[in-house]
Amino acid sequence: MAVFIYKSLPSTNTEARKPGYRHGDAIIAREQTAGRGQRGNKWSSTAGENLTFSLVWEPTFLEAKRQFLLSEAVALALVDTLRKYDIRPKIKWTNDIYVGNKKICGILIEHDLGTEGHLARTIVGIGLNVLQREFESWVPNPTSMALLTNGALDINAVFQELYDSLEARYAQLQSDPAAIEKEYGELLYRLEELHTYALPNGKRFAGVIRGVRSSGELLVESEGMVVPYLFKEIEFII
Ligand code: BTN
Repeated sequence: MAVFIYKSLPSTNTEARKPGYRHGDAIIAREQTAGRGQRGNKWSSTAGENLTFSLVWEPTFLEAKRQFLLSEAVALALVDTLRKYDIRPKIKWTNDIYVGNKKICGILIEHDLGTEGHLARTIVGIGLNVLQREFESWVPNPTSMALLTNGALDINAVFQELYDSLEARYAQLQSDPAAIEKEYGELLYRLEELHTYALPNGKRFAGVIRGVRSSGELLVESEGMVVPYLFKEIEFII
């Protein structure tokens, strides 16, 4: 495992896809000029204030159909790290990390398939807001560790704690995946609460999150029926 630190990169996820990087390597950028988010969005982060990095994993033991476990393990590693700072986050399906109704961390995971239905390589891109206190106006409901804690924060120490948590959760993926699924399910943002959701056609409805399937679909109950939703099939109204 090696840590590569760059002053500026377009996107650490794009850099991490280059073939030279190996399992356990972390690619950190002080600044990203074209940081990528989920759903084709941009990722905005003031240079030097936050953690923007990608981790290379080679989870060849994992069948591609079980890839949601990796999202769960990464989200739990973020929860583990933030709890060390007395922050009590929840996981907004699929893997945004929220504190109250505000987003503190975004995760962009990209997989390469290998042979016989297994994964070959996974790039775990993490944008964790650490020191930033003011955000661009278009960024939806952001927060940061600095806004939520009183003490001084050492961004390098946060990275080391997060890296260690990611390693521990990766090991747990192999030893006890059921525990990962259980813990992820219990930490879901808005679990068992009645809220408004939107469908891709704009229609809104009231529903209650009941859990997540192993394959990653969100289970939402509405009008007495529990319906599984894939990513992009349902939007949280916050
Ligand atoms: C999201 O919530 O939309 C996901 C954001 C992921 C941002 C991180 S920052 C490091 C890595 N490199 C990128 O270009 N994106 C991810």
